[in-house]
Amino acid sequence: VSQAWAATWVPHRRAVPLCQEVSVSPTTNALHEEATRCDAQDPLRAFREHFTFPRGDADQPHVYLCGNSLGLQPKGSRDAVLMELDTWRELAVDGHFRGPNPWYSYHEPLAPLAAQIVGAKPHEVALMGSLTNNLHLLMVSFYRPTNQRYKIIIEGGAFPSDRYAVASQAAFHGLDPNDAIVEIRPRDGEATLRDEDILDTIRREGERVALVLFGAVHYYTGQRFDLGAITAAAHEIGAVAGFDLAHAAGNVPVDLHDSGADFAAWCSYKYLNCGPGSAAGIFVHHRWSDAGHLPRFAGWWGNDPETRFRMPERFSPQRGAAGWQVSNAPVLGLAPFRASGTLFAEATMKKLREKSVALTTFLLDAIEARLPNDVRVITPRVAASRGSQLSLQLSRGGETLQRRLQDAHVIADFRPPDVVRLALAPMYNSFQDAARVVDVLDACLSES
Ligand SMILES: Cc1ncc(COP(=O)(O)O)c(C=O)c1O
Repeated sequence: VSQAWAATWVPHRRAVPLCQEVSVSPTTNALHEEATRCDAQDPLRAFREHFTFPRGDADQPHVYLCGNSLGLQPKGSRDAVLMELDTWRELAVDGHFRGPNPWYSYHEPLAPLAAQIVGAKPHEVALMGSLTNNLHLLMVSFYRPTNQRYKIIIEGGAFPSDRYAVASQAAFHGLDPNDAIVEIRPRDGEATLRDEDILDTIRREGERVALVLFGAVHYYTGQRFDLGAITAAAHEIGAVAGFDLAHAAGNVPVDLHDSGADFAAWCSYKYLNCGPGSAAGIFVHHRWSDAGHLPRFAGWWGNDPETRFRMPERFSPQRGAAGWQVSNAPVLGLAPFRASGTLFAEATMKKLREKSVALTTFLLDAIEARLPNDVRVITPRVAASRGSQLSLQLSRGGETLQRRLQDAHVIADFRPPDVVRLALAPMYNSFQDAARVVDVLDACLSES
């Protein structure tokens, strides 16, 4: 424990839901004792056993804090994929209608599982394709610019793929993206957006806005946005509200249906733990269920399954989100969700959220107590405005941090020049993981 830190230590107690009377103590040992106590009280602690942790060349279990990038593998997902490979080997084309999980309808029971996670009605969700592709498909239907109403409002510093997607949609409609896209940026000296600035911008742009497309949780800062308020403001001015849930699905409760959002899309390889490039998800609000009139880029899988194999000439879309499906279900890309979705149903988003708040609060308090002059936490302090990720801006040591973390068997995401993003996925991370990363950061920074 560094002397500098001990000198600045101010004892404090902060109640967190899972671990009452947590206090971050001035010694590393005490921090680890607290972590051990919190882990013992954690009602979700058994879920960690369902996951495989990377061990690296030194065969050391890693502290894995990268679930916001690629979630860990649930042990059951391997069997789920192998089962479909076996069906393919044994039955070949007959696997579409025979076998343990006929592929023709493989995706159907999975949509309700996903719907629970994102707070949607089952028919509002379809599992398909990939995130950016799906955003494009949804914008084909929900971004319908006119001469007067053509702007797209997005959060400043949005994930580049979203920026490229909206810019190319605007250009596709013959618009100048520089004119069509309005990015809301934090105020000078601030790292995150203020709610009032988001709502004021939407109202100020008013009737010029066709679409408000926001991330539900910002990929870089970890800021969580208020979907209900953003949607209400968008609807007030007659615009459509859509959300990218890449960093929100499986991370925070999003209550898509109740928020009134028109559409949303997410990937499943982050907090949903379905593996690289696995099948993604879309949400289309119930109010659009029968919107056969909306333009869409159709494919046979969006057609009514009753008539699909009669190969009708004319496309007749299914009700709800399923009508936006294009190609047949990517069975091997969906299989991991059979395992992962079941874990979410057992754990529940409510309990995961409680643990996520407790974990991030524990880590935030420990960092601010141990590294008050070395680290600026750019994620909002208020628990309601963040998910499972804390983004830290380092005062020094950025150049070597990635290597040092690796040497210490900590896997975290470093964004040059000076930001490290730590995700404490409540499904498998522990309070000990949080204590460990504080030690490692302390050691890295005191050597810099
Ligand atoms: C917020 C956000 N949007 C879009 C993407 C792009 O996802 P994909 O490559 O699955 O289309 C990512 C990927 O990490 C992301 O974090």
